[in-house]
Amino acid sequence: MKDFKDKVMFLTGAAHGFGTEIAKEGARRGMKLALIDIDEPALKRVYKEVADMGAQVEMIPADVTKEEDVDKAVKLTMKRFNQIDLLINDAGIALPGRVWELPSRDWEWIMHVNLMSQVYAMQQIIPIMLKQKTHCAILNVASIAGLIDTPGMPAYHASKFASVGMTEATAYDLQRMNADIEMHVMCPGFVQTDLYHTEKHRPAQYTDTTDPYYTSDVFKGGQQVSEFVIKNGMPIDSIALTVFQALEDDEFYILTHPVFNTMIGDRVKRIVNGDKPDVHVMDGLM
Ligand SMILES: NC(=O)c1ccc[n+]([C@@H]2O[C@H](COP(=O)([O-])OP(=O)(O)OC[C@H]3O[C@@H](n4cnc5c(N)ncnc54)[C@H](O)[C@@H]3O)[C@@H](O)[C@H]2O)c1
Repeated sequence: MKDFKDKVMFLTGAAHGFGTEIAKEGARRGMKLALIDIDEPALKRVYKEVADMGAQVEMIPADVTKEEDVDKAVKLTMKRFNQIDLLINDAGIALPGRVWELPSRDWEWIMHVNLMSQVYAMQQIIPIMLKQKTHCAILNVASIAGLIDTPGMPAYHASKFASVGMTEATAYDLQRMNADIEMHVMCPGFVQTDLYHTEKHRPAQYTDTTDPYYTSDVFKGGQQVSEFVIKNGMPIDSIALTVFQALEDDEFYILTHPVFNTMIGDRVKRIVNGDKPDVHVMDGLM
């Protein structure tokens, strides 16, 4: 996608981090914006900022774990702008915790935010894009955690590997149909955002204050690790430009941290050799 002026972007996760940066860059490029997020007060601030930049913008508070909320957001966007050219599925959460410790409710929560919300939006928006017959693009924000694995956050890896696989498979399906829809999957390393504040975005249906897990040292330890790696990540300044440059260049995999490229290659070698994961390959990196 090279021309962004007057194109309509449907963006989830717009209230913080990557989403806010992408919304502002879209506004700079003259895009019309549908901004979706569960954090309404923060979304209002972003809405005001991009409206002050001159963007036509629709603010849609929604919980993307709920299919009906995503459907409603798509309908409101179509009512306001009558088309959707760029879908960016950015909303995401990070939950540390080993398989045998993280409650099943949290597994459901993370799979719904990081994977199912992308499915819900694509189910609604791909048919609209196909009918529109204009050049369109879809970018799913996954993570480097969708290409390589590390200890301590299997649920995050599961959701992000699934997002990468789903995006790749959809790219094949759209190519087979000669659909004029570009697919992209973003796989960043650590970037300084609010991602370690995931608990603030826990919807009521995934809340259970009676579970001892949430007062345990294991839970607190996971939160501290999450905060440490995000706070020590790359500054966010270049993220939106990276996204728009990748869209312009029609890059499928959008990577941000070359330091992880060797680990991607090593994982592929390990798979074809039948070797087991070696925790020591992470020494010095995490
Ligand atoms: N920051 C990093 O280091 C990093 C690295 C790799 C991938 N990512 C991915 O980038 C994406 C953006 O994350 P970020 O780092 O900007 O974090 P962030 O917490 O700053 O932003 C995430 C946004 O998603 C929203 N959100 C969460 N649950 C929601 C729900 N149920 N419904 C609607 N909105 C919801 C939050 O309110 C927030 O605005 C995520 O998918 C994340 O997994 C981030």
